[in-house]
Amino acid sequence: MCGIFGAISDDSAKLVLEGLRKLEYRGYDSAGLAAVFPDHKGPIETERTTGFVADLVSKADIRFQGASIAIGHTRWATHGGVTDSNAHPHSSNDGRITIVHNGIIENAHELLERIGNLGYIVNSETDSEVIVHLLDHEIKSQSSNKTPLDAFASTLRLLKGSWAIAAIISGFDEILIARNGAPLVIGRGDGNFFVSSDIQPLFGVCSEFAFLNDGQVLAIERSGIRIMPESEEPYFEMLEGSYEEQDSGTFPHLMLKEIHDQPISVSNSLSGRISADGINAALGGICLNSEELRNLDRINIVACGSAYYASQIGAIYIRKHTNLTVEAFRASEFPHERVCSPNTLTIGVSQSGETKDTLDALQSAKLQGGHITSFCNAIGSTMSRLAGNGSYLHAGPEFAVASTKAFSSMVSVFILLALTISEMKEVDRRAIVTEIRKLPNKLTTQLLEDDGSIERATEILSNSKSAIFIGRGISSPLSNEGALKMMEVAYLPCLSYPGGELKHGPIALIEDGTPVIAIAPDDQTSVLMESSIRECKSRGATVILISDTEGTMCDLADVVIPTQPTHPDLSPIVNVIPLQLLAYELGVSRGTNVDRPRNLAKSVTVT
Ligand code: AGP
Repeated sequence: MCGIFGAISDDSAKLVLEGLRKLEYRGYDSAGLAAVFPDHKGPIETERTTGFVADLVSKADIRFQGASIAIGHTRWATHGGVTDSNAHPHSSNDGRITIVHNGIIENAHELLERIGNLGYIVNSETDSEVIVHLLDHEIKSQSSNKTPLDAFASTLRLLKGSWAIAAIISGFDEILIARNGAPLVIGRGDGNFFVSSDIQPLFGVCSEFAFLNDGQVLAIERSGIRIMPESEEPYFEMLEGSYEEQDSGTFPHLMLKEIHDQPISVSNSLSGRISADGINAALGGICLNSEELRNLDRINIVACGSAYYASQIGAIYIRKHTNLTVEAFRASEFPHERVCSPNTLTIGVSQSGETKDTLDALQSAKLQGGHITSFCNAIGSTMSRLAGNGSYLHAGPEFAVASTKAFSSMVSVFILLALTISEMKEVDRRAIVTEIRKLPNKLTTQLLEDDGSIERATEILSNSKSAIFIGRGISSPLSNEGALKMMEVAYLPCLSYPGGELKHGPIALIEDGTPVIAIAPDDQTSVLMESSIRECKSRGATVILISDTEGTMCDLADVVIPTQPTHPDLSPIVNVIPLQLLAYELGVSRGTNVDRPRNLAKSVTVT
């Protein structure tokens, strides 16, 4: 979602454009840049455009060369359409102040009325523009002993909602920044300062970084940082690691590369968490030990999208292998007052660790006095810092908007959690752990063995206007994930239902040729899945079966996508691969931008 990058450096605009390029994976629909030059006191130079950062680079041309301070933004539209005038930065009417904002100003309507009464002209449909006019008014009306930072802090006191803001003012060699509910990180090194929505673009350009916390308000200038008296000092740490270029390598798309990363990403998620004797699993990092976990009143899991479906599978594991009460919730629907108390644990699950709905749910659990933890992929994300404990997925950076390897890593971490809490018999534990250790090899085989079935299934789907996904038991949330993937990258309307529910309504949709994608591993649900498939076939459905079984169920299907057999608990980690490949192949055949599907953002930082 929206990205901010700012720089105080020689030729800072060039660095900002490069920073924005590195934030592109977050998803956006327009981009903009503003810069000030040494000793220049007139209106601030700005450029904005719909489209890509590359379009902004062309539009900016050489006008920004030699800028001493610059801020830039990639916008994902929430308030107002995708237009140049809604793109950030937004400038004051005299052009001497300009701001970029991530988040949502909830009281924008009321504040617009206020600035209208003050005589300001509003040039966009955004909730963000109000900030720059309020700041302009504060600067012009405050007493002469006050600084722009004081005016900035006063402006923030008028806002309700969430924000990461960077502002520059003509004639002042500083960037004003603040955070409340949207991520922002400062980088410094070699006399340069940077501010960014995430840490990735800072690798290689600075040596230290500091995450901003909610409520921090400060001014960055070449000589250092000034903070408001009530604000806490940013805490700098050494920046270690390197920028991972969004490079699809030998693959035509990032999504396909990330699907093929899974043997390694799953292996990394498991690494160091299984004992050498192959019997035990121990997921470290959580604020409670296994005894304390077993004594909880309940576990809540909060997540969105693919992370929610992975969490539903996680809840099935914990329910099956422990006596605990556990429930996975869509974070935006989390009934915290009903399910959180001091003896509960709420787990936030997220690839980015920046998803606002999940952050809010976790925060509400904390306020209720419960324990919180996180399973995140992005190291140092807001969620992992909010929880202050947790287990990383270690799937490696995921850049394609459609989540693939993070999903399989989430499911992997959940089975480890269930094993960590469980007091199951050694023989049962060994059976699962032995198969867990074989997973990376099985995923490799699943990816490499091509019998043409994905191609045949894609052909069927390419002639269809919709598809129905079905699964039972542990494959039911997986069928939701399959449908989600298909909708987001191939824009095919999809319905996902537990196999047993089909006859209670949705079966009315099936007519001659309706594609039904059935996920039916060899587990205790396979007999009933066969019945569901028969019900579909008798009404003319074209069945695409994802299964490791042989026999009558396969005979019913029009296309069988064979999968590697594994322990029934682990089938979602294997079976998600054909679902991801189907979505990818159909997306490519339909000419969609599979890595950057329309209207979507990689990290959804608004509610
Ligand atoms: C998955 O393909 C989606 N792009 C989306 O549903 C995603 O899983 C969701 O927004 C949650 O993101 P997170 O894991 O970063 O919290």
